[in-house]
Amino acid sequence: MALERTFSIVKPDAVAKNVIGQIYARFEEAGLKIVASKMLQLSREQAEGFYAVHKERPFYNDLVSFMISGPVMVQVLEGENAILKNREVMGATNPAEAEAGTIRKDFADSIDENAVHGSDAPETAAEEIKFFFNDDELCERLR
Ligand code: TYD
Repeated sequence: MALERTFSIVKPDAVAKNVIGQIYARFEEAGLKIVASKMLQLSREQAEGFYAVHKERPFYNDLVSFMISGPVMVQVLEGENAILKNREVMGATNPAEAEAGTIRKDFADSIDENAVHGSDAPETAAEEIKFFFNDDELCERLR
């Protein structure tokens, strides 16, 4: 399995809880390396664009409002099988169904405020990384 990159967001609920570092530790403990990272206040247009795939879903407007309710951390994670590994570390979308020891089990309160986002496939990972980062913001970690 080759090295893979995935896109991740620490959402406004987790930033407000001051657990950015604890969530980054979970990534690192799983062998995922942070190769780009920044804090952002998303605009409504950015949040709408990012979640455009959910436009027709009943939760879309609330999701957009939540995502702009405070700053987020956006990061690119790199590692073997990074996309799936990050999804495992995150846990199920609904924290009530997430396994013990996952980020969502430990830090999220509800399905709509669930602490983290992570890309679900190689195509979306590439698109989402491009949505938030220029190529020159992605670092090469040779060791
Ligand atoms: P989804 O892509 O299904 O989950 P995941 O984030 O695990 O890939 O949904 C995207 C986000 O939409 C989810 O993280 C939170 C929000 N959402 C709701 O607010 N209510 C819902 O019922 C669902 C399914 C998602």
